[in-house]
Amino acid sequence: MKPPGPKTQELLKRTGDPIDPYPPIWGIPTVNAEGPWIEDVDGNIYLDFVSGKCVVNLGHRHPEIVAALKAQIDQVILGATENRFILSEKLTQITPGSFNKTVFFGSSGSDSIDGALKLARWTTKRPNILCVAGAYHGQTYGALSVSSTWSWMVRGFYPSAGIFRMPEARLDLQSKPAVECLNGFLCF
Ligand SMILES: Cc1ncc(COP(=O)(O)O)c(C=O)c1O
Repeated sequence: MKPPGPKTQELLKRTGDPIDPYPPIWGIPTVNAEGPWIEDVDGNIYLDFVSGKCVVNLGHRHPEIVAALKAQIDQVILGATENRFILSEKLTQITPGSFNKTVFFGSSGSDSIDGALKLARWTTKRPNILCVAGAYHGQTYGALSVSSTWSWMVRGFYPSAGIFRMPEARLDLQSKPAVECLNGFLCF
């Protein structure tokens, strides 16, 4: 049926789609997802060209990932799990360099952006951050401070001090401003 179907319309009207201000694509109330497919409450099937905001690149509910998650949850759900140590060891082995390394586990992309901001300021001892105007880096306070995809990200939240924005360099000057651009900022 033509989306949005009746159940989707009723749900969005009732709840006011309070989830977040992302573009309408994220407003599809999904009840099932498998591989590249997602299904909404009306039974409509969509091909997910953006892999769930690029975070399910192996497909939705990849059986091996689901099995690993279930196995971990059945054992221990929080804390310094054995697997956490094993993964840290693996990461220190496969990343470049032979110096002593520290692994920081975050729970989201925004968390990693905050980590990168802290690391950049701490290492350079410089307070200012240069970021790209119109970029999207996430919704924690640090990530939000270097984002400006939507005006609300800048107005009202009073971004962290020392943030400077530069225009995005684009090859195609006719195209519309980017919704997202790669994570990149510079400390100076
Ligand atoms: C380019 C980019 N950076 C950072 C983030 C933030 O990741 P998260 O939503 O996991 O905090 C996103 C999320 O959409 C992103 O697209």
